[in-house]
Amino acid sequence: MLAKRIVVEREPVRVGDGGAVIEVKDLAVRYGKKYAIKDINLKFERSQITAIIGPSGCGKSTLLRCLNRMNDLIPDAKVEGKVYYRGIDIYDHTVDPVAVRTVIGMVFQRPNPFPMSIFDNVAFGLRVNGMKLNKTQMQEKVKDALIKAALWDEVKDRLDAPAYSLSGGQQQRLCIARALAVDPDVILLDEPTVSLDPISTAKIEQLLRQICYDYTIIIVTHNMQQAARVSDYTAVMMPDEQMIGRLIEYGPTKEIFTNPRDKRTEDYISGRIG
Ligand SMILES: Nc1ncnc2c1ncn2[C@@H]1O[C@H](COP(=O)(O)OP(=O)(O)O)[C@@H](O)[C@H]1O
Ligand SMILES: [Mg+2]
Repeated sequence: MLAKRIVVEREPVRVGDGGAVIEVKDLAVRYGKKYAIKDINLKFERSQITAIIGPSGCGKSTLLRCLNRMNDLIPDAKVEGKVYYRGIDIYDHTVDPVAVRTVIGMVFQRPNPFPMSIFDNVAFGLRVNGMKLNKTQMQEKVKDALIKAALWDEVKDRLDAPAYSLSGGQQQRLCIARALAVDPDVILLDEPTVSLDPISTAKIEQLLRQICYDYTIIIVTHNMQQAARVSDYTAVMMPDEQMIGRLIEYGPTKEIFTNPRDKRTEDYISGRIG
């Protein structure tokens, strides 16, 4: 994998070999006074797909948004504890949240293409980042991202068509292409297939498996089968008595699904909770 750097005011950090790319320490988030998640300690392994599962409202999206400072954009949200990206505290005052979100990209529940052409959607991040690319280089980058997102063959003859002319599944793959175009290191996906049909869902799961060697992928899903199919590691969250989301179990996906240690995980994956 190519060395990747995060743009911060201090020493650029180079990719090490192996180990965790993101480490979360004693993380808690509250909205106003009410804690949504607490005491989260978790590492996300490089070039692996980690699924975050758990019933609705247990704080999966809240946790995911901490990982690239998307919670900064929610006025009431207060983040406590630490999130390290390759050893950098991403909440440090010297770190630019926009740079964080470039290196740690995000794909949302509903496809949210911009009201512009297919090509311009993918080129968007490259232009915003002020990358000096000539026309050919830009075309290459856009093509690469569309290939990785398994969309190229379907759109190569109509790159100038509006993104909205695509089907829902294609739009979501376009959003993945848009995230990939800026060459991120980590990709966060929040229930990316929840609005899609089974065939579109399968395409996205397949493409995640194809690209996972080059990226670290973290996917929130409440679809247990999806977690089992697509992920290497699984983190299970559950609300406690006060409805505060807790991490109750984490491990290789195979173990979580065949031999869960926590009774609540067993009940959840067998469909008795949530
Ligand atoms: N912007 C917000 N303002 C206030 N409370 C919120 C906000 N977003 C989420 N919450 C609350 O935080 C808890 C966790 O929500 P969320 O992270 O969306 O859970 P999940 O993604 O697992 O469904 C819920 O109780 C939810 O109501
Ligand atoms: Mg959610």
